[in-house]
Amino acid sequence: MVKGDRIVGIDIGTTKICTIVAEVEEEGGLKITGVGSAPSDGLKRGVVVNVEKTVKSIQEAIDRAEQMSDTRITAVYAGIAGDHIRSFNSRGVIAVSGPENEITGNDEARVIEAAKAINIPLDREIVHVLPQDFLVDDQPGIKDPIGMSGVRLEADVHIVTGAVTSAQNICKSIRRAGVEVVDLVLEPIASSYAVLTPDEEEMGCLLVDIGGGTSDIAVFYGGSIRHTAVVGLGGENVTQDISIGMRTPVKQAEELKRMHGCALSSLVSKEEVIEVPGIAGRPPNKVERAEMTAIIEARMDEIFSLVHRELMRTDYAHLLAAGVVVTGGGAMVDGCAELAEEIFDMPVRIGTSRNVTGLVDAVTQPIYATGVGLVQFGLNHQNREGHLVNGNGEMFNSILGRMKGWVKDFF
Ligand SMILES: Nc1ncnc2c1ncn2[C@@H]1O[C@H](COP(=O)(O)OP(=O)(O)OP(=O)(O)O)[C@@H](O)[C@H]1O
Ligand SMILES: [Mg+2]
Repeated sequence: MVKGDRIVGIDIGTTKICTIVAEVEEEGGLKITGVGSAPSDGLKRGVVVNVEKTVKSIQEAIDRAEQMSDTRITAVYAGIAGDHIRSFNSRGVIAVSGPENEITGNDEARVIEAAKAINIPLDREIVHVLPQDFLVDDQPGIKDPIGMSGVRLEADVHIVTGAVTSAQNICKSIRRAGVEVVDLVLEPIASSYAVLTPDEEEMGCLLVDIGGGTSDIAVFYGGSIRHTAVVGLGGENVTQDISIGMRTPVKQAEELKRMHGCALSSLVSKEEVIEVPGIAGRPPNKVERAEMTAIIEARMDEIFSLVHRELMRTDYAHLLAAGVVVTGGGAMVDGCAELAEEIFDMPVRIGTSRNVTGLVDAVTQPIYATGVGLVQFGLNHQNREGHLVNGNGEMFNSILGRMKGWVKDFF
């Protein structure tokens, strides 16, 4: 990618669809030049259930981003999520082919291909193959094997698969809106590009993206992704609970949550009173804020507990020195980090997008993490391609490509 190139990401969420346009700057930075958001109601729990409605929302989000950035959008990186996503780790092995046993970019590509050679059901497709570490002649922990000498090359990879039909419905909706899909990216992976620091990924951390319909998690350790999973609860469940518990329509419940929501009872005093709009013309009620807090806390506690249980199933639960980063709109409720700290017994911070310039103010909220991450994925993905191609020949470009790629390895 060169300065001035444009990358566009589109986050197709359960509650909103958001298009982000960015321009590549010198030194591989990203300048946000357009943001377009539209409410989404064609999705359930991260999966397209109504193509027509989704196309309409996509068009709206794209139009707005085009207007703001004064460009024509032709191709996008799109997010994919939902509880059809499955992921697991796999290992590939090859014999190094070249003269003097020097490992080339071709060997690297072959070993990753070998790690991909697993049986997956016909109705699923591979969304990502993310290299974790390479082993050269049984020596583990190698991040960049190109140029090393060895006879046997192995690769540990994290493979993410999704339902073919869900991926098709996303692509179909985007194409119907008149735009090509460059690549599909798992949403928590995209978010990680926007909010995590390389140090956090190296030391080990858990990323939790609490959306409207689902909460997506990704575990990082040693600079690579180790585990991904989806918990089928999100901010919409919190709103539903408020609506039922406080006998108020969903729309008002959502508003109340955004204005007065808090996830931890100990942060709210008994005296605080809020006004709850009544249903169908009934007069508004005054209730204690603590009552709503108790409702929110119960659901958020459940979400974090399910995430915690998922984390305990991995080998990394006790290795995450950098703690937990929570992002997504669900993270915007007061006291979220404090509650999560109690449940995970680890330091928790709220993740917002880093390392971007331009319309920064428009994208700092955690709801934009996935969208911003998609353009950052796009930038890094291009670097990776350059890296693999140049690894075979041109030394200088290869080094340059590798230096750029270091930050995010070979995702
Ligand atoms: N200020 C706020 N306080 C509390 N919650 C909020 C706030 N703003 C947004 N939310 C909640 O965040 C959720 C939406 O988050 P987000 O935009 O990340 O979801 P999404 O990407 O559309 O959904 P998904 O990722 O599940 O497909 C909604 O449930 C909304 O109620
Ligand atoms: Mg989302």
